[in-house]
Amino acid sequence: MNYENLLVEEKNGIAIVTINRPQALNALNVGTFSDLKKFFGEDALKIAELKGVILTGAGEKAFAAGADITEFMKLDVASASQLSKRGQDIFLLIERFAKPVIAAVNGFALGGGCELAMACHLRIAGERAKFGQPEVNLGIIPGYGGSQRLIQYIGKTKALELLLTADMLNAEDALRLGLVNHVVPAGEEVAKATEILEKIATKGPVAVQLVIEAVNAYFTPGELGFAKEVSAFGKAAGTEDFKEGAAAFLEKRKANFSGK
Ligand code: COA
Repeated sequence: MNYENLLVEEKNGIAIVTINRPQALNALNVGTFSDLKKFFGEDALKIAELKGVILTGAGEKAFAAGADITEFMKLDVASASQLSKRGQDIFLLIERFAKPVIAAVNGFALGGGCELAMACHLRIAGERAKFGQPEVNLGIIPGYGGSQRLIQYIGKTKALELLLTADMLNAEDALRLGLVNHVVPAGEEVAKATEILEKIATKGPVAVQLVIEAVNAYFTPGELGFAKEVSAFGKAAGTEDFKEGAAAFLEKRKANFSGK
């Protein structure tokens, strides 16, 4: 797995993906988007027995400080729309990834960095993490789903305030508002994310995937979430995992899931 701007390390079935442009606070340039597309769209699917993915940023200062502003100067209406659509599509790959993806937010998660963290299924913030959508400072708006997902997580009232003022949220406020799942001491973000992925890995893998699909359906225009739940429930009931899980409960033993 070779990437321009990502480091990928696999440890005990968990892929740790690090955005590696610390000199630019891990700003998401076109090359980094291509890397994310290659990882989530191709390479991650080939990792045998993958439990999940942790996304983080290199260095101690940033998860990702946004889209790469140096690439903005050449944008026009058509190319900006294309950039936005491509970014949204790549972040959807993450949101729809069959295994849990956790953002380990070790510093600034601004603009595209906040949008990337929000596309992940769960977010762990280090105590020095900062979140925000400061695009209006540049006279532009979020383009990778930020105007939509921020509302999903923290509600319209607070989302509009952050989007309009470009204010940042610290880790504790992000926790209080429901943007992140946990706040941990700086440097312990990946360890906490690993602990959570290890816990999820003890559950039925097909059920885990179906939970992700059913929850995503709630937020997908045109999809009927309750209908999706009915079909996913039926699908889960047809798995060997369900028979094993139910039998293990009745036999008072730990389930041994096969993922089938
Ligand atoms: N795109 C490109 N480069 C970026 C960047 C971005 N989004 N964010 C930071 N960088 C670069 C800086 O230009 C600087 O490069 P240099 O050393 O070559 O001058 C380097 O990363 C360090 O950033 P700096 O601004 O010096 O750090 P700081 O601690 O003073 O400030 C931030 C940190 C995050 C507050 C500040 O970098 C910032 O506001 N970044 C832009 C955030 C943003 O608007 N994101 C949304 C983009 S749509």
